[in-house]
Amino acid sequence: MTVLRARELYRFYRAGDEETLALRGVSLAVPGGKLVTVAGPSGSGKSTLLACLAGLDEPDGGSVYVRDIRISHRPEHERSALRARHIGTLFQSANLLEHLTVRRNLELSSGSSGPATAPVPGPASTPCSMRWA
Ligand SMILES: Nc1ncnc2c1ncn2[C@@H]1O[C@H](COP(=O)(O)OP(=O)(O)OP(=O)(O)O)[C@@H](O)[C@H]1O
Ligand SMILES: [Mg+2]
Repeated sequence: MTVLRARELYRFYRAGDEETLALRGVSLAVPGGKLVTVAGPSGSGKSTLLACLAGLDEPDGGSVYVRDIRISHRPEHERSALRARHIGTLFQSANLLEHLTVRRNLELSSGSSGPATAPVPGPASTPCSMRWA
């Protein structure tokens, strides 16, 4: 079963007259139980992609689905409820507890550590996990 799916993701940043196309039509499908890494040179869009996949950022185009539930293009409170239920996010620093295993850190940062505080669209399911700098 596909637990994470992205279709034709686009993300632009604009600073003054300068426009950066950080994501240009990225599509992917991650099957359950698979470990997937995202690799590429600095500035190639890895952090932008992971932020869009986790619902922390909104793509300018395209869609993200977690277990067939669309997480993109929703109000922030709905995205955060979906994140709490389905997605564990470990940043490279700041929010890791050293005495816990990676699995336990992920459980704590995902909905599996407790009930969501807001109504969650879609059915309950196993969280997926992400880690990035
Ligand atoms: N908030 C922002 N405003 C403007 N441009 C941005 C912003 N965030 C990222 N970018 C630009 O988008 C592109 C992709 O950046 P991103 O941080 O996703 O790359 P990365 O692959 O994670 O890089 P690194 O390996 O250095 O972490 C880069 O050109 C970056 O300068
Ligand atoms: Mg990065």
